[in-house]
Amino acid sequence: MAARGLGLFLASTGMAFNGLLGSTNLYTYSPPPPLPTTFFNHPSENLSSASPQQVHISSVGEDKMRISWITTDSPTPATVDYGTSPGVYNFSATGSTSSYNYMLYISGDIHEVLIGPLTPDSVYYYRCGSNPSREFSFKTPPAQFPIKFAVAGDLGQTGWTNSTLQHIAESNYDMLLLPGDLSYADVYQPLWDSFGRLVEPQASQRPWMVTQGNHEVEKLPVFHSKPFTAYNARWHMPYEESGSGSNLYYSFNAAGVHVIMLGSYTDFGPGSPQYQWLQADLGKIDRKTTPWTVVLIHAPWYNSNTAHQGEKESVDMKTAMEEVLYRARVDVVFAGHIHAYERFTRVYNGKADNCGPVHITIGDGGNREGLASNYINPKPDISIVREASFGHGQLEMVNETHAFWSWNRNDDDEAIISDSIWLRSLSSDPACEMQK
Ligand SMILES: *[C@@H]1O[C@H](CO)[C@@H](O)[C@H](O)[C@H]1NC(C)=O
Ligand SMILES: *[C@@H]1O[C@H](CO)[C@@H](O)[C@H](O)[C@H]1NC(C)=O
Ligand SMILES: *[C@@H]1O[C@H](CO)[C@@H](O)[C@H](O)[C@H]1NC(C)=O
Ligand SMILES: *[C@@H]1O[C@H](CO)[C@@H](O)[C@H](O)[C@H]1NC(C)=O
Ligand SMILES: [Fe+2]
Repeated sequence: MAARGLGLFLASTGMAFNGLLGSTNLYTYSPPPPLPTTFFNHPSENLSSASPQQVHISSVGEDKMRISWITTDSPTPATVDYGTSPGVYNFSATGSTSSYNYMLYISGDIHEVLIGPLTPDSVYYYRCGSNPSREFSFKTPPAQFPIKFAVAGDLGQTGWTNSTLQHIAESNYDMLLLPGDLSYADVYQPLWDSFGRLVEPQASQRPWMVTQGNHEVEKLPVFHSKPFTAYNARWHMPYEESGSGSNLYYSFNAAGVHVIMLGSYTDFGPGSPQYQWLQADLGKIDRKTTPWTVVLIHAPWYNSNTAHQGEKESVDMKTAMEEVLYRARVDVVFAGHIHAYERFTRVYNGKADNCGPVHITIGDGGNREGLASNYINPKPDISIVREASFGHGQLEMVNETHAFWSWNRNDDDEAIISDSIWLRSLSSDPACEMQK
């Protein structure tokens, strides 16, 4: 009871922080009316306590998958049975089970199993905990171009989120990249469970690769001083495999793309473990096998919205790391945090630069805090498109030189492309040689 009351209290102060109500929308598009955070039950059945729920998967290396799910109350083996035909599970693997406490809340059993080696671009059928009641399936990412990423940040769990997820499901994507702010549980832990149920239809079918935002910190003075308790327990990303010492930053390869997930809410200054890991990771990129490099952060380094200006995670992290990314010729930097869409030209050090990354803010997944509709005027020249509407992005790497980026506004439940651009990889531009 106390936990619930406090959670709701903090959730409402969280909304007040945003301070964006009453703004004028510069664009003709009017967002739908606010929708409350919803508790999502499993749509088709009332789960028994041994039934797997909140199933999600993430890529580990280029041929393995981590399967994660939760059960409540009754002991369940951390076993995944899987195979390439429905109902035929020729393979089986066993992993581990954990749980965590947050004030009065005790999580269910969180199971994790690593499966593989798996064949690229193939469908697998699986069941969790040897429980026959629910069969899931996923498709592994391709090993070669083309590969399509869906990108969405600041999801939350409203009707808007549901709409974004439907559009993502229809996009025929290979992998989701999420630049932070997942559940908006804001210390009220049952909202992590309802978020897990909400995203399960998509997150059990394609690898979901996430990094943390401010809503994942969940530190409470006196009551719970440890940060990222729920996030780290529920969303274990492949950090060990990329030589990182922390679940808050890691990297992986998918087809010919090197993806780096950075942590905006852990130390990033020169000399910090994250900074040192980033330098080492960038130094290991082989442009022949991964001609593209994409980076995700939460708090944007470039932003012409009035929301979240001047925060240290934006200003200080940019100061610390922008040159490192520039010298490594990173192609695109995605951020969330601002509940709107904005695409910049290639930039470095505040100016247009043909060898700098394209910066894209895609924090418009649909959380309860609503849209950030106030912009700094006049629009800076380096900002190409900006709009406060809910939606998601798709990044299709066509081959080693060309990629197609599109932003898809939810717009009354139609997936409409609202902004798009062809990108050329910096590795294919002789004027932008990598600088070690
Ligand atoms: C699930 O349980 C609720 C409450 O016990 C009940 O109202 C509902 O009909 C059940 N749904 C299904 C699909 O069995
Ligand atoms: C799975 O096992 C069955 C029975 O042993 C066998 O007939 C089938 O070929 C196997 N399938 C695969 C994909 O290995
Ligand atoms: C989510 O969207 C689907 C498809 O549009 C719809 O059938 C479902 O009722 C929605 N769920 C909620 C809780 O809004
Ligand atoms: C890469 O894709 C682009 C866009 O479809 C195409 O114009 C180009 O010829 C392709 N390059 C190669 C090497 O296939
Ligand atoms: Fe945020």
